[in-house]
Amino acid sequence: MNLPKLGELGDVSGKSVLVRADLNVPLVERDGAMEVGDSFRIEATIPTLTWLLERGAKVTLCSHLGRPKGSVVDRYSMKPVRAAIHERLPEVEVLENLRFDPGEESGSKEFAERLAQGFDLYVFDAFGAAHRAHASVVEVPRLLPSVAGVNMAMEVEKLSKLIEAPTSPYVAVVGGAKVSDKLGLLKSLIEKVDKVIVGGAMAFTFLVGQGVKVGNSLVQEELVDQCNELMKTKKISLPVDFVCLQTGKPFGVPDGEPSQQIFEGDIPEGWLGLDIGPKSARIFASVISSASSLLWNGPMGVYEDSRFSGGTIAVARAVATSKAYSVVGGGDSAAALRKEGLADGVSHLSTGGGASLEFIEKGTLPGIEALNQRLGWH
Ligand code: 3PG
Ligand code: MG
Repeated sequence: MNLPKLGELGDVSGKSVLVRADLNVPLVERDGAMEVGDSFRIEATIPTLTWLLERGAKVTLCSHLGRPKGSVVDRYSMKPVRAAIHERLPEVEVLENLRFDPGEESGSKEFAERLAQGFDLYVFDAFGAAHRAHASVVEVPRLLPSVAGVNMAMEVEKLSKLIEAPTSPYVAVVGGAKVSDKLGLLKSLIEKVDKVIVGGAMAFTFLVGQGVKVGNSLVQEELVDQCNELMKTKKISLPVDFVCLQTGKPFGVPDGEPSQQIFEGDIPEGWLGLDIGPKSARIFASVISSASSLLWNGPMGVYEDSRFSGGTIAVARAVATSKAYSVVGGGDSAAALRKEGLADGVSHLSTGGGASLEFIEKGTLPGIEALNQRLGWH
């Protein structure tokens, strides 16, 4: 993948450079004011900014934040993000949320022209948004000489290793609530991997098709046939036991009432599975430890509730201690790894959620195509 890189910008001294990053970060309230709750994506943007500043460029930064849907919504203001950037690099100007203008998401050429106005060069560093064909992703690179920033280039390089030449055994661990979000990924992965471990509530749609009773667990009935097709490849490992809660009892809170129960095999009516059980965690960990290439996306259960975090933590440990080339994508799995202090154990922790999945699935992204066309280099 031959993306144009920062070095191709030539002498940037005195030039006005617009940097598009993915600063879509979680915000938290403290003392009545909003602040950045997790600075992973902010840190990932710093190398590009310092590269430009050290060479004398005048740097302006822009991003989307949340989904304000084309109007000015106070709680999606970039103010807290700007403050976090200014703590590190006071000389960088930070524009307001790109999605305050409907032209960003509609991919408007007119909005792109307004955005690019007054700038000499464009650096696209927003890997996490590179799967969206929005104005700042696909239209601005037609207007200005445009390159990939440090983070964008690194993401594409690290993820490409799994797309182009993964070493065998290649094991993918896929979790999350809905199989509908991951079906495209699974269909594309199944061709390339030796084994796919499926956890999270999405496993129940597979289990139902195999005749397992899942009680009141989440099932996407309309996808059972497609899951059965995937099962025929004999490459999919499903959980064999589950941490469950009675229906109607609240979950998702950090420390709920300890009334969970473990069931092996069938789950009785009136109960729903919210995490993989300890036996599944052991089996999955052993498959993970045998891998030479690893991809992990999506939690094994309701990780934010400590009663149902065990499966995700077990997978995080197994991935982090494995000697495989390991890539972790997706907000929840990446956050779990960092929260458990295991991030150093993986080869690459992606800043992208949907973007990393779509890149692995399709081998390219709108943001990559836009840079590679080099249309802004008149
Ligand atoms: C993300 O966090 O997934 C990216 O910033 C893209 O945001 P979006 O899903 O709202 O397009
Ligand atoms: Mg998203």
